[in-house]
Formats: sequence, structure tokens, C-alpha cells
Amino acid sequence: MKNQNFLEPFTFSPKGLVLNNSVVMAPMTTMSSFYDGSITNDEVDYYAERAGGPGMIITGVAYVTDGGKGFEGELSIAHDSTVKGLSKIARAIQQNGTKAVIQIFHAGRKTNSKILRGIQPTSASPIAAAYPKDSEEPRELTNEEIENMIKDFGRATLRAIKAGFDGVELHGANTYLLQQFFSENSNRRSDQWGGNFEKRMRFPLRVIEEVSSVIKANADRPFVLGYRLSPEELETPGIRLEDSLAFAEALTDTPVDYIHLSMGSYRRTSLNQPDDKEPILTKFVKVLNNRKPLIGVGSVERPEDAKAVIDAGAALVGIGREFIREPKWVQKVASGELNSIRYQISPYDMDQLRIPLAMQAYLENSFRDVIHFTTDGEQGETYEATLAPMEGFEKKM
Ligand SMILES: Cc1cc2nc3c(=O)[nH]c(=O)nc-3n(C[C@H](O)[C@H](O)[C@H](O)COP(=O)(O)O)c2cc1C
Repeated sequence: MKNQNFLEPFTFSPKGLVLNNSVVMAPMTTMSSFYDGSITNDEVDYYAERAGGPGMIITGVAYVTDGGKGFEGELSIAHDSTVKGLSKIARAIQQNGTKAVIQIFHAGRKTNSKILRGIQPTSASPIAAAYPKDSEEPRELTNEEIENMIKDFGRATLRAIKAGFDGVELHGANTYLLQQFFSENSNRRSDQWGGNFEKRMRFPLRVIEEVSSVIKANADRPFVLGYRLSPEELETPGIRLEDSLAFAEALTDTPVDYIHLSMGSYRRTSLNQPDDKEPILTKFVKVLNNRKPLIGVGSVERPEDAKAVIDAGAALVGIGREFIREPKWVQKVASGELNSIRYQISPYDMDQLRIPLAMQAYLENSFRDVIHFTTDGEQGETYEATLAPMEGFEKKM
């Protein structure tokens, strides 16, 4: 198993940021920041435990402005005062050579007035999300607010540069604000920010432009810009595969350094067109045609999975849940210690794996598949307790 291609270094060109290998830890919120979004030592420990393996770690998402906070325990990059704390996360990741990228977003309508301390959520249009069922109706952003929010993404990027990160990833997936502008489901505007495909792309493209110019003006080292997107929505109207493939095509003309899909399985085929059996990953590889590196992700657990993602044409392979279970996955694959890779953990392993308590609770409630509860039975046999199905998994992420 030695010298598989995903263990080979990767260079982001033209910026020249070099990753020690082609494995990326996918962004996963730890739910463990303080009430005001400042970091906790538990988070620093969690990242430090996983550093040194993957070539790059993308942090859990951080909100760029207070009105964009999506959930309790989320990281903030909304104020200059966050820089000091965030730099501890960057440094914890960078030990032993892992590159650190911070994911940034605005939740848009995917939050509520309780999380925003009494303030109504905002979005492209005043339409409540279909999921969860009790979603609040957001207030429509004014043109001036949109222009200011574009600057907020730029200001957050400047903080990421100051905190010592190696890049930012725009979270344009999982139905948050960037996606809300792109989707007809949430964007019914008739001004320059909505109406047809071109106009619905305008907000994400302007954010990319702003972030990129902040990087150019301020980064004194290679600093990458990534864009994450969800290929499809199930709602009608909503994003269909041909829309996101056309969006990916448009992204090839922007300064983004990589494109990152958000999917629960790298083998996934279209949810809206079940007759189409071509994996979504392959479709994106074809459209991008080596013009931008692609991160393929979703249920990569074993070395064979990582190899399959790279063999399909992705430049980088993203691993999420398996890095929660096995922080030393890369080291173990590289040294051939395949039998010691953990594919199952019990709740009792979580402290040792430096999983913060709030994240443990989140996993137990929302991602029970991460934890396989095993215990010795009376006769000494091991049994696995029932695991809750991953209901709504795609939507939750
Ligand atoms: C606990 C947890 C938190 C997550 N938080 C984020 C996040 O902050 N941003 C994001 O883009 N995706 C998030 N995701 C989705 C992952 O990045 C990834 O796409 C998903 O887990 C599928 O990859 P996997 O099968 O390797 O876990 C999260 C997933 C999990 C399990």
C-alpha cells in the first residue's frame, strides 16, 4: 500500500502552496467555540491531534459577520478580536507541515432569531427554508447590505491572513447564503442579484472577486482560495446538476485555486435524475478538465476509497468522519499499519481522540454513524448496538 498516489505531494498552481500529500481533512464544525464564537482549547487540541497527517486541514465553518452565525458553538471570524484565537488553531494545524485553511460563510436563512439573539435572519429573498419545518422567514437583504456583506467576506479573509492561515474556503454549499443566492428556491429577486442564472451567480462571483483582491493586496505568502458547492438540491425550484456544472464552468474563469464538492458519498449519482448512472464526481472532473483542482469527498474510509477518488480524476481527496475516528489515518496508511486503522469507535474512545465534549454530543445526536457503540456482552461476545439511520444527512451538512 506504500506510495499510493494520494500520498504524493500536491502543489496549488500558480500560487505554489505545497501540500505534503493529497489528502485533505474536510471541514467539520466542532460545535465547541464559546457563545461569542471565540475558540476553546478543546478545539485547538482536536486540530492538533489530527495535524501532521493530511496535507491540508480545512477548519469547521466560521461566520464572517454576527448576522451570519448559523449555530451555537460555531467559530467566528467576524471581528478583529478573533485573530489571536484563530492563530492558535492555524498554528496547531501547521505543526508537522499540514496546511491550514479556514472555511468561512454566512448562514443566511439557515439560522434563527434565537441564535442571532433576537435578530431576524436575512437572505436573498423572504422565503423560509423548507427544512427544518419550523424555519423562520428571513428578511430580504437590501442592495447596500449585499455590497457590505461582500466586504465582510473580504474583511474575514484579511483576518485569516493575519491569523496565519494558508487559505480560506468559501462555504458555498449545504444551503447557506452563497448557495441561497445561487438557488432559485431561495432567490426570487428581480434586481441585479437575481432573476436568471447569470444574475444568481453574481453574489458568489463578487465575493470571490473581493476575497481574491484582499489576498492579492495582503498575503505575503502563498494563500489559496477554495470554493465549496453542493451539486444538487431536492426542492423545486432548486439547483439541478446541470446548474452546478455550469457554475463550475464559470468558476474556471475566476481566481479560485480549487473547487470542493460537498457530498455524503463520492460514488453518488444524481438524486434528481435516478436514470443517470454516471457518478457526480466524474461529471465535475469532465467539466473542469484539469483547469481547476477538484476535491472529491464522501464516505472515504479505506485506502481503496481514497485511491478511487483520485483515480476518478480528483486532484485531492477529502476525508471527514474517518478523521474523527482515526486522527492518524494518513500516517498508518503511509507506514502500512493498515490493521490498526480505526473504522469504528465507541463513545468511550472519544476523549482519547480529543473530540471536544460538545462535538461528542453533536455526533451522538446527528451523526450516530460515526460512533459504533460496542461493548462486551455477558458471555464475552461483542455486540453492536443499533445505529440510527443517517436521516437527512445530505441536508444537515
Ligand atoms: C460533525 C460534522 C460537521 C461538519 N461540519 C461541516 C462544516 O462546518 N462545513 C462543511 O462544509 N461541511 C461540514 N460537514 C460535512 C463534511 O465536510 C463532509 O462533506 C461530510 O462529512 C462527508 O464526508 P465524510 O463521509 O468523509 O464524512 C460536517 C460533517 C460532520 C460529520
